[in-house]
Amino acid sequence: MTLILGLETSCDETAAAIVRDGQIVLSNVVATQHDLHQRYRGVVPEIASRAHLQNINPVIQESLDRAAITLNDLDAIAVGHRPGLIGSLLVGVSAAKTIAWATDIPLIGIDHVQAHLHAATLTDPPTSNKPAPQIDPPSWRGNSITGNPKSDFSVTSNPQPGNPQPPPTASSNAAPNTPSQNKGSGVVSKEIQTTKSTPDPLINSGAQNKAPGTFTPADAPAKLTFPALGLVVSGGHTSLYAMNSPTDLTLIGATIDDAVGEAYDKAAVILNLGYPGGPKLDKLAQQGDPTQHDLPRSMLAKDSLDFSFSGLKTAVLYTVRGHPKGRGAAAKFQRSIDDLNEQQITNIAAAFQAAAIDAIIKKLKRAVQHMTDQGTPPQSLVIGGGVSANSLLRTRATELGEQLNITVRIPAFAYCLDNAAMIAGLAHTHYQAHNFANLDLPAIASGSV
Ligand code: KG4
Ligand code: ZN
Repeated sequence: MTLILGLETSCDETAAAIVRDGQIVLSNVVATQHDLHQRYRGVVPEIASRAHLQNINPVIQESLDRAAITLNDLDAIAVGHRPGLIGSLLVGVSAAKTIAWATDIPLIGIDHVQAHLHAATLTDPPTSNKPAPQIDPPSWRGNSITGNPKSDFSVTSNPQPGNPQPPPTASSNAAPNTPSQNKGSGVVSKEIQTTKSTPDPLINSGAQNKAPGTFTPADAPAKLTFPALGLVVSGGHTSLYAMNSPTDLTLIGATIDDAVGEAYDKAAVILNLGYPGGPKLDKLAQQGDPTQHDLPRSMLAKDSLDFSFSGLKTAVLYTVRGHPKGRGAAAKFQRSIDDLNEQQITNIAAAFQAAAIDAIIKKLKRAVQHMTDQGTPPQSLVIGGGVSANSLLRTRATELGEQLNITVRIPAFAYCLDNAAMIAGLAHTHYQAHNFANLDLPAIASGSV
């Protein structure tokens, strides 16, 4: 039995998880910073690193407590060390090195993008009855945030995809930490919760609602079968991989401009839906009529496996505001979002979603053909990253698998967004191969497999 602590701090989630034997999740703790970045409609790197610093120790302690173990029980510590925001990565990498050094256990460096492709093989996180911890806010010195940063700071539970403001769960005594509740209170109640996924009809891990320690290997979902086609769809990536093993990946396609999650977030800004936009746009799109607008599906060259989403984003802008007169900053649009009624906005959201997901499905078909032509027809299609939470992508990828007779693996909702269970899970493969890092393991901002 191997127990690995995973840490994830590449962007705006501070996460720690304990995973047994690569698949059995004993705890999965995620502290998000969404409220902190919301007013900027995007992640502010300096604010993110400072929040990671504040959260990392309590999050690690919570992951140990919820798994009912101590640092001494660990066999290794793994950390997502690339790619990501450099200041954010450094917090996790430094914490992992410190624990490795202090407890004399192996350190494992994990590629964040590879880890997303491991997420679909994890058991659902166990339910915890423990109340969420209350953490005192730090003293904020020399900050550059306008207003009262202390009272605006919040760490909330990982939102369920499609439901960005979840109600308190059984594991929490505290109310959801919304900005309006925090404003002016002076005292910030911070929740750090074990993420708990709602049962997902597409996922059958057979391990829901068990207490930590009672999982058996039989509870774990099947391992991936190879060769596999991997698709990572997130805020930073839209990439296709031919996979021979969990760690042997060849990039066969990628976006040439915006990542699909980025396009969702930008379209959500145009539609005035708030941040993070992906889940909100997805939810709205499900109520709209996608046939009212014919938005472009960029296929690029005939056999290209690359993606492009910037044209779709511009098409949404023009659909909402009309074609502008003039260019750049001098551009004058015909109307504003306020001139559209709710149904019109909902229909544009649906048309965007239909176009974005259609483009991905078409590229998946091409990629299957490409791998087949190469003599390595994929046995499975594995999807990971924040956009794998998308309702239409989940449905259409499942249909594609049935059509092509390929097993489709999509993560439970709790593991679509950034989390540390995927880091600790993938680390088991490295642990078995004795692929350990030294204490000079670097944090690397860009590049990936
Ligand atoms: O994997 P992730 O948590 O972080 C990165 O590594 O980028 O992905 C976050 C991205 C965001 O762009 C977010 O808007 C998008 O995933 N996202 C969604 C949905 N849930 C999250 N996009 C579309 N539909 C969703 N349901
Ligand atoms: Zn990610």
